[in-house]
Amino acid sequence: NLILNEAKSIGVVVPNIGNPFFSSFINGIQRVSREFEYLPFNFSGANDSSLEEYYVEQLIGRGTNGLIIASSSITKNTIDKILKKNQIPYLLMDQNPLSDGDQVRTNDRVGGHLVAQYLLSMGHKKFSVVVPNDATDNIKLRITGFKEELVTQGLDPSSMINTVYSPLTKRGGFDAAITVVQSDATAVFAVNDELAIGLYRGLKKLGLKIPADISVMGYDGIDLDTFVEPELSTIQQPIARMGELATQLLINRINDPTISQQVVELPVRLIKRSSVSTPK
Ligand code: RIB
Repeated sequence: NLILNEAKSIGVVVPNIGNPFFSSFINGIQRVSREFEYLPFNFSGANDSSLEEYYVEQLIGRGTNGLIIASSSITKNTIDKILKKNQIPYLLMDQNPLSDGDQVRTNDRVGGHLVAQYLLSMGHKKFSVVVPNDATDNIKLRITGFKEELVTQGLDPSSMINTVYSPLTKRGGFDAAITVVQSDATAVFAVNDELAIGLYRGLKKLGLKIPADISVMGYDGIDLDTFVEPELSTIQQPIARMGELATQLLINRINDPTISQQVVELPVRLIKRSSVSTPK
């Protein structure tokens, strides 16, 4: 029987469906949804808070049982006036400031430590950090961790880091290349892989070779990392697992709205590939 009277659904809003991070994340959501006989409806907010609000309202109006919102541009107003008012179970990922509800997160600070440890161990002392200027708290924590590790090793971050602000997209990475090249950095930390891959293209256009001329480190561990040349060194987040757990926690909350706050923190790990070498 294809007509399900009691079909249960989950609404999912991600910021940018063009980033493979979110396709892996959605795969994880689908796996657990299917297991528990929920149907996920996925939307990309294109980093536009009014569009996100529209999808959230539409989903609630159509009786969705719960929401996973992985978008950072969702406003406090939407949370209070739409989600809380309608008493709809929801789980926020990557929020700014971090949500006081159920959460699935990874340890971004440790991720930042790992990047710094690795680049320092390869002999780098001058860094470019590429980051959006409206970075979410979890992304800011990667940079906090990066700086913390320099301090732990007795170094002064202010004289070692040149920060380049650019949108969290491939284009953002591409456009950042010129500023990175004008600095004296021998290694770049791009706060996600998408930025790093855009940067690859920009550096290539400017005639630089990775890692011979400049080392590049990403963050996320998306599937494209092993299909670019050179393969991208990164911090791996367990992306599909994050989607699975987000769904599991949301379903727990749908089943019993009175349970106490659920917070799961997953580990990250350093993946050394070919985009980092010793400086020239
Ligand atoms: O690449 C997408 C980024 O958005 C990831 O790093 C994830 O953690 C989220 O912040």
